[in-house]
Amino acid sequence: MCGIISVLSLKTKIANCLFSSLERLEYRGYDSAGIAYIGIDAKLHRVRSIGTIDNLKRAARELSIEGYIGVGHTRWATHGKVTEVNAHPHICKGVAIVHNGIVENYQELKKELLKSGYTFESETDTEVIAKLVASYIDNGIDFQSAFKHAISEISGTFAIVAIYEGAPHLLLGVKKGSPMAIGFSKDNQNFYIASDAVALSTLVENVTYLEEGDFVIAEKRDTLTYKVLDNLWSETSRKSVPNRVSLHDVEKNGYETFMLKEIFEEPKVIRLTFDKFEYNLNTSKHKSISIIACGTSYYAGLLAKYWVEEALKIRVDVEIASEFRYRDPLLSADTACIFISQSGETIDTLSALRLVKSRGYKVIALVNVESSSIAREADFVIKTEAGIEIGVASTKAFVAQILSMLMLCTDRNSLAITEIETSVRTVLNMEKKFIDAARKIMSSNSLFYIGRGPSYPVALEGALKMKELSYIPAEGYPAGEIKHGPIAIVDEDVYTVVIAPLDKYFEKTISNAQEILARNGKILLLTTEGAKNLSYDFRENENVDCIFLPQLSNPVHQPFCLVTAIHLLAYHTSKLMGYDVDKPRNLAKSVTVE
Ligand code: AGP
Ligand code: GLU
Repeated sequence: MCGIISVLSLKTKIANCLFSSLERLEYRGYDSAGIAYIGIDAKLHRVRSIGTIDNLKRAARELSIEGYIGVGHTRWATHGKVTEVNAHPHICKGVAIVHNGIVENYQELKKELLKSGYTFESETDTEVIAKLVASYIDNGIDFQSAFKHAISEISGTFAIVAIYEGAPHLLLGVKKGSPMAIGFSKDNQNFYIASDAVALSTLVENVTYLEEGDFVIAEKRDTLTYKVLDNLWSETSRKSVPNRVSLHDVEKNGYETFMLKEIFEEPKVIRLTFDKFEYNLNTSKHKSISIIACGTSYYAGLLAKYWVEEALKIRVDVEIASEFRYRDPLLSADTACIFISQSGETIDTLSALRLVKSRGYKVIALVNVESSSIAREADFVIKTEAGIEIGVASTKAFVAQILSMLMLCTDRNSLAITEIETSVRTVLNMEKKFIDAARKIMSSNSLFYIGRGPSYPVALEGALKMKELSYIPAEGYPAGEIKHGPIAIVDEDVYTVVIAPLDKYFEKTISNAQEILARNGKILLLTTEGAKNLSYDFRENENVDCIFLPQLSNPVHQPFCLVTAIHLLAYHTSKLMGYDVDKPRNLAKSVTVE
């Protein structure tokens, strides 16, 4: 999702903080970028570019970028193609706007503004905000009031920051549906408004997160001051917390990519989660559990279902948030609703949470960002200990999610955590095997991932990772389901990753794999040491490659090795294909638009 950075300064050197923050925001996923600032010539300047921040820096190389106030934006297009004209900031008569989210009523607003003689250059929804603010100023209203009136007219989800050539001492922001963080530099010489703490990681020691409907008005006189106004425009205060994002979190620390660093952090995340986990689910109150999430977090919920139902003997339903929220779900007080989200900002999951709360029920959030909207709006928060995850494709956070869910339903003393941690390290040390496997897979036209029982959600996650990173069509299926249609696709160009640890499903899954081989399909079998004595001709078949992962003493814990394996497989396939694994095309780290 897009990223916002803005600064009001007592000094004129603002270029570096704008560009360095935009670089920190790259992890959120974007397709174009831009900055605007009011120069020491008191004029508004703007530069935009499609592609990377480096492209933007090149486009800005002629500019001095000296001024006391500026805004920056990385765009993840929702309305209008990826073009320079559609990139933010959008300006009108000295007003510059950057926006994260969607203006849902932009067409009718645009129609009215066109009737009033305003012209548009872009296809975006955002541009109407700049015109709307300018239209109020044209009617003699001051910038701050113009901003307030304009915001009152737009509906949708947004985090917006505005500057105005005619009021270079004011930096204005509003938060509704998309995250917004503010803070002072240590020397109080700069005040920042940004999308998140990562953007501010090296700029502020303490950060304040705005609440829904909050405005922030920052003003430069002899000193910098700011105030937060709630949605009724009355002054309020929001808690300032230490900015926990360290340089270590936002640096690669010797790894080629953030994603590889984060995959190799999985053993540490396992240990940290185990050591710090202190939550329990009061199952006496709950007769069932509903888990609501999106994407990889949804697959974490699917995997948790097997563990929780087995351990607690209560029903677990797992729901895709964007479906759940529009289905008028049946809810009851004895159902625990758990919302899983790495970013804590996924609007589909947040909206589903709000729906459940609106019905008067309590909500539990399992999130990786404790300052996030989902964390703040939940009644009870389980914090995953994955640390900041920069790679758009979620890896270590998924491991933290599934271990947290396992610990929620298991006595910690029954968890062979050292064995789990050690076996994941072993898988990481087998990296070359996954590179070799990736070299074969990368030429496939399409892929299946199949598994039974807990290996089925692992198959789904493996397929998603492969899709996200290599752009190869990949489908996850219950192994037993392949013969009910999908096997029609199987031929010599189709590769199937068979997730089959030696557990109670092993024999059946191998039979399904045999059915694929019988149709000349190619197989990568991810299994465990215990299956090494496979007597089948299976292993001699030239269409089969096997990778034997560590066999854990408790089969319930086996998914941890399998998950690290599918992460490495997808990562290396993408790398061999030459793609940007940290920023896959079209994807955003936090999907704050519907
Ligand atoms: C994960 O690799 C994907 N980037 C995506 O599916 C993600 O899991 C999904 O958007 C949900 O994000 P969240 O966990 O931050 O809510
Ligand atoms: N809806 C705006 C656009 O398409 C902002 C998208 C974003 O959040 O980056 O430009």
